[in-house]
Amino acid sequence: IENNNLAETDEIADLLSSLPKEKSWRSGYVYRYQGFWYPEKQIPALIAFQKHFLAQKTDTILVTMPKSGTTWLKALAFSIMNRAKYTPSCSPLNSVNPHDLVPFLACGLYANNQLPDLSTFPSPRMFATHVAYPSLPDSIKNSGCRIVYLCRNPFDNFISLWHFLSEARPERLGPLLLEEAFDSFCNGLGGFGPFFDHVLGYWRESLERPEEVLFLTYEDMKEDINSQMKRLAEFLGCPFSLEEEADGVVEGISKLCSFSNLKDKEINKTGKSLGNLENKILFRRGEVGGWTNYLTPEMVDRLNKIMEQKLAGSGLKF
Ligand code: A3P
Repeated sequence: IENNNLAETDEIADLLSSLPKEKSWRSGYVYRYQGFWYPEKQIPALIAFQKHFLAQKTDTILVTMPKSGTTWLKALAFSIMNRAKYTPSCSPLNSVNPHDLVPFLACGLYANNQLPDLSTFPSPRMFATHVAYPSLPDSIKNSGCRIVYLCRNPFDNFISLWHFLSEARPERLGPLLLEEAFDSFCNGLGGFGPFFDHVLGYWRESLERPEEVLFLTYEDMKEDINSQMKRLAEFLGCPFSLEEEADGVVEGISKLCSFSNLKDKEINKTGKSLGNLENKILFRRGEVGGWTNYLTPEMVDRLNKIMEQKLAGSGLKF
């Protein structure tokens, strides 16, 4: 790992001063870069990622909006890819948080002015990112590597984000008001938004090149995890064999990665894997539809109208 050089630091300061900015939900500002809103310290990390990351054809990149099920997807994809090596009872997931098994690129490996040495990563490599499609490095778009995108209905995604940021933001800032956060979400801010632009970028790619971009939803996974896992395994080039299905391998992995199982692991009750954040805030309810307890009919109406307008003609529905 080496430091970015000073010239780059100056360039970043110039760039930041030229970008539109808004107050962040957490602390400081978010900046609009290449059409999407990023927290201040994400911008240098994103630029380093764009400049230095070289995708290989055998890579898999897991992409999500924050709070749409990233932790779950990491656990599932890791377990599916490594099932010849680890049965559920000896899986690293029993003692390691999924974020330490599948690292984030921009907000992990390239964060804090670091350039990672990726030569030590065994192939096939698996990484994760929240970066919007247009801002991915060209090598990810052109190498033929696999992209798995997981999205969640915007109502639950928002509520999950609001809870998460309420926990994560400094106490001195006071509570994060639901109404303010919602207004900001509807305006496209918060969590690498605008939400619908993020989702549509990957949705369209998945229609154009389904061999390389798989589009999953949190709701489909909650409804029938085993069939979504089979789709995922097939896409990753390691479909479950008939023997594996008969032996209960699919169910074994889905149980291992389930909310209730992971939530109760010691590492996820007491550990920290994403900087200062406690792992336990990554496991809240893990359900579909909890938003109905929080949003007024006016709020629902407002977000429904935005959704209708943004998704019109796309073929995507929530
Ligand atoms: P809720 O806040 O609605 O409970 P991310 O992993 O992208 O940060 O998303 C977090 C959301 O996924 C949280 O939603 C969390 O509870 C849920 N989650 C975490 N692990 C899960 C799992 N194994 N299965 C289903 N949902 C999970």
